Amino acid sequence: MAHFRLPANSRLQPGKSFKAAPGTKRVKSFRVYRWDPDAGENPRTDTYELDLDACGPMVLDALIKIKNEIDPTLTFRRSCREGICGSCAMNIDGTNTLACLKPIEEVKDDVNIHPLPHMPVVKDLVPDLAQPYAQLQSIEPWLQSDTPPPPDAERRQSKEERAKLDGMWECILCFCCSTACPSYWWNGDRYLGPALLLAAYRWIVDSRDEATGRRLDALEDPFKLYRCHTIMNCTETCPKGLNPARAIAGIKRLMAERQG
Ligand code: SF4
Ligand code: SF4
Ligand code: FES
Repeated sequence: MAHFRLPANSRLQPGKSFKAAPGTKRVKSFRVYRWDPDAGENPRTDTYELDLDACGPMVLDALIKIKNEIDPTLTFRRSCREGICGSCAMNIDGTNTLACLKPIEEVKDDVNIHPLPHMPVVKDLVPDLAQPYAQLQSIEPWLQSDTPPPPDAERRQSKEERAKLDGMWECILCFCCSTACPSYWWNGDRYLGPALLLAAYRWIVDSRDEATGRRLDALEDPFKLYRCHTIMNCTETCPKGLNPARAIAGIKRLMAERQG
């Protein structure tokens, strides 16, 4: 019989509580997943009360305030704070998103914050992304062409050819989509997942790239591509409004066309 309980050493324990100063008018509680690999303890949920009148508007602002003013041990990734680097991806209020783009006021009750789901945790809100980065390398995400570029100009595209890349070049590889995909949860070691299939398709449809056949050959595999069951979590969760499920359908269509 299947067991759905977490192993004993993974079960969340109640954590510490940090109260706002008495008299604070606009208090918001942030319940944050904490786990320190060196402590030898179970993960816990710490609760931090913040004064919203003294905090920036985004969840990342709250995390930075907590780290700077309340608890310097809190660990999370961030860099650009404007939705470009992808490093602040985490699960907020049950949805994978970017902390720097998520307004605190969109969360009605306490703000529950966890690392991206189904990835090993390095510490607190930092997931181990070694697997998707290795998979990224495997799709060879760079232009491949035997034809040399014109000696005095860049490789040109028509407006129509360039437009085919829209909806893909914007991907910031935050992996919100892949870590929301049940197929990637269960088969992430072999299924490439929506983020990387979108990245693969971006090169497959690039008019300047001459490795299309080889790229499709590399994806012709029962696991790498065909584990997508069109569940659509990926498209629903993408904080950049992209549609990885459509890209995956595009690859499958090209596969079918060249077979047929
Ligand atoms: S559409 Fe495919 S890639 Fe997207 S969540 Fe569903 S199974 Fe995963
Ligand atoms: S498709 Fe969207 S969710 Fe997925 S990695 Fe790219 S930006 Fe992130
Ligand atoms: S800090 Fe760069 S995307 Fe959020």
